[in-house]
Amino acid sequence: MRGKTLLAPSLLSADLMNMQSSILSLEGEHDWLHVDVMDGGFVPNITFGPGFVGALRGAFPDEVLDVHLMIEQPSRMVDAFITAGADYLTVHAEADHHVHRTLSRIRENERKAGVSINPGTSEEIIRPLLPFVDMVLVMSVNPGFGGQTFIGTMMEKVTALARWRAALGLSFLIEIDGGVGRQNAAMAARGGCDVLVMGSAVFGTPDPASTLREIRNIVEEADERA
Ligand code: DX5
Ligand code: ZN
Repeated sequence: MRGKTLLAPSLLSADLMNMQSSILSLEGEHDWLHVDVMDGGFVPNITFGPGFVGALRGAFPDEVLDVHLMIEQPSRMVDAFITAGADYLTVHAEADHHVHRTLSRIRENERKAGVSINPGTSEEIIRPLLPFVDMVLVMSVNPGFGGQTFIGTMMEKVTALARWRAALGLSFLIEIDGGVGRQNAAMAARGGCDVLVMGSAVFGTPDPASTLREIRNIVEEADERA
């Protein structure tokens, strides 16, 4: 049986001038904090670095920090994010020539290793890596910005990954990122997503905590039926 669906608000859509109060506005209704790291090369945007992750870790020692690296050659930077205090560290398969080595490095440091694929990348690419990951992040928009529209066909990747996971006896989590919100959370949970990343759908609402409570009810109902 699946575990309960986890909710991971993305700080990309938080109030950058008031990060601490944005996080507190979640009132603990979330499971993880998702941190989008962008380098202006792999994606056409620049966001947070290890210093930000370290500051988060210092201010919120008990939070699960889910760090999504949308950067070229992530192997050069994983040590810095490990030191900063990331719990989950996810690298893009498209950005690294030696993803297995990078994933191993993350795990050697007792952090959870994730691999991600863009909408245009087949899940077949990461099939050989599945025994070496704690999470697969399926991008359901082209990474770079919040507030984009969910690409529904990406759920086919989730189905394939869940099937392979069962066949191989593995236990990695499947995370979906981009365009997720109240309108499709039940479908995503029922379709096999274990972690829902949500930026604008949470921080773009007047009361993020009550939005999360609503989405929690929606996914719990879906979990019961799954
Ligand atoms: C997109 C990022 C996402 C983003 C999602 O490149 O990886 O995590 O914050 O934002 P929404 O939920 O608004 O699509
Ligand atoms: Zn992300």
